[in-house]
Amino acid sequence: MAQIIDGKALSAQVLQQVASDVALLKDEHGIVPTLAVVLVGEDPASQVYVRNKIKRAREVGIGSKEYLLDANTTQNELAQLIDALNDDAQVHGILVQLPLPDQLDEDAVIASIHPDKDVDGFHPLNVGALAAGRDTLVPCTPQGCMIMLHQAHPDLSGKHAVVVGRSNIVGKPMAMLLLQANCTVTIVHSRTRDIESLCRHADIVIAAAGRRELIDADWIKPGATVIDVGINAIEIEGKRKLVGDVAFEAVSQVAGAISPVPGGVGPMTIACLLLNTTRAVTRQLS
Ligand code: GUN
Repeated sequence: MAQIIDGKALSAQVLQQVASDVALLKDEHGIVPTLAVVLVGEDPASQVYVRNKIKRAREVGIGSKEYLLDANTTQNELAQLIDALNDDAQVHGILVQLPLPDQLDEDAVIASIHPDKDVDGFHPLNVGALAAGRDTLVPCTPQGCMIMLHQAHPDLSGKHAVVVGRSNIVGKPMAMLLLQANCTVTIVHSRTRDIESLCRHADIVIAAAGRRELIDADWIKPGATVIDVGINAIEIEGKRKLVGDVAFEAVSQVAGAISPVPGGVGPMTIACLLLNTTRAVTRQLS
């Protein structure tokens, strides 16, 4: 039976660190790190994510401002809000919850956020800095995955990591971070031939495909570490349940270590968002 990588417990440690950083920023600089969260429209999943982010922010002493915009918001209206938040010295981090409604140009919105307030690490300057191996604001989910991986592997050097999925939010930045940690990295995706055998060679599998229980036990090398980024809502006997991109019961019989869903990557992502908020303050101070 695999070791369970407990994202809830690990995120509590990160949040404790954030809370102490917040206290220090207040004592030494009189600053209350503040995160602005923008949600356009009423996507129920996004509403839950935003609510959780704000709740956790409050718990560690990070201030928050919530902007709930109508689903019909125009590009210009959103641009004006972001400009105002960029100029507001009391706001240190700006998060625009994705996906945005169809009438809005996501790339333009991301590019309009000041790079030093880009707590998602999605701005092209931050993406480029990560690719170049420079210190920058790094996307929260892959950052959380790296903390979880370090639990199972204090030294990642030379390990073969397979990243399943090539999204800008997870797959691509994940590959960059693994490369920085001296892993050998393969990215596989929906057009990859024979994904299973590539996964079977991996010491580490990061599952970020967005397909429920895609990855089964025969994809996994015995003893490998599996991090499940998937969040898929399903209904069993009328009850709503969250499952990942990994068939947890089967894979946990083969893997050496595995992260569960829920209670794995999800809480780590929020903890890293708040970590990025304090880092954003530090960037704006220097
Ligand atoms: N939607 C799904 N994941 C994310 C994320 O990490 N950040 C933002 N802004 N939107 C998301």
